[in-house]
Amino acid sequence: MSAPVCHRSRSAARTPSPQVHPSRSVSTRRLPEGDYTLIIGGTSGLGREIALQCLERNVTPIVLGRSAQRAVADQDLKKAVPFTLDLFDLGRLASSIHRLLRFIDQANITHLFWVAGIAQSRPFLDLTRIEIAHLLGVHLEGSLLLLHSLLNQRKERGQPVHLVVVSSTSVYGDCNGNELLNAVQAAKASVARGLASSLLRDVPGSLVSLFMLAAMDTAFHTDRSVDSTSLLQPEQVATIMAVQTGVGHGPTHRPSQMSTVTTPFARFLVERELDGSPRVNLYTAFPDQPF
Ligand SMILES: NC(=O)c1ccc[n+]([C@@H]2O[C@H](COP(=O)([O-])OP(=O)(O)OC[C@H]3O[C@@H](n4cnc5c(N)ncnc54)[C@H](OP(=O)(O)O)[C@@H]3O)[C@@H](O)[C@H]2O)c1
Repeated sequence: MSAPVCHRSRSAARTPSPQVHPSRSVSTRRLPEGDYTLIIGGTSGLGREIALQCLERNVTPIVLGRSAQRAVADQDLKKAVPFTLDLFDLGRLASSIHRLLRFIDQANITHLFWVAGIAQSRPFLDLTRIEIAHLLGVHLEGSLLLLHSLLNQRKERGQPVHLVVVSSTSVYGDCNGNELLNAVQAAKASVARGLASSLLRDVPGSLVSLFMLAAMDTAFHTDRSVDSTSLLQPEQVATIMAVQTGVGHGPTHRPSQMSTVTTPFARFLVERELDGSPRVNLYTAFPDQPF
């Protein structure tokens, strides 16, 4: 099934955002009532565009990343809520997660976007041990520790959430010197599929959407030999993701064109047409395999 592509309207109304005082420590703040999304890796590239989409849909994004404070200094993102956290700093991650859980304890989190990632800088055999640990730490170890805590909190609260996982179409194709990166992208797809059935049992009403994306024009894409106009634009991809996951409509909403979805899991392939526009394919059957 081909899903329609919507383009972001910058003129869409935005509600006033909650007043959070940056001078106060994040752990002592309380979030005002309202709908929130949480974006792991919401500070740049695709995650930043998803945050902008949330604001356009009157939902306040909480953006996570090392540069969260810097990201919300940007005029367009100033109504987002920053939360600074380093997924690779395992020494501090536990206390960061603890602070985050307290901070969002009473918040109505409709969507949880798992976006953070780093590129593989060179072929596997040329990587240093620290580079391998860094890639695995950001994409998997740190992210999974965080997800584990966040989803358990939602379980304890009995609050369903729409988990949106970003992976890559590179899982299917030529690994192109990105052996390790492709492996973590496949792992993310597998986690998404597996979590769909566990969330169904543990946090009824939750949904999982997996987005497998072709190359985008972001800082992540380091192959400068590729013409950037041949890449997907992150704002277009973020619009597709916000529309297809029903941001602004609560956690359990599936748009009408997805009314055939009978399982809690949907997988989207976002590729590029010859004319440069995104081509979206939606697979709604619960697969035996994650991809
Ligand atoms: N670009 C592509 O061609 C492409 C294609 C398919 C899939 N993807 C996937 O899309 C996702 C987003 O990538 P992008 O293209 O938007 O790249 P990007 O612009 O480089 O954004 C990466 C995000 O990850 C966060 N991040 C990186 N290291 C982190 C750390 N140690 N702790 C916390 N957050 C960290 C960054 O935040 P801070 O810097 O603030 O920490 C940033 O928000 C990635 O998972 C990538 O695998 C990308």
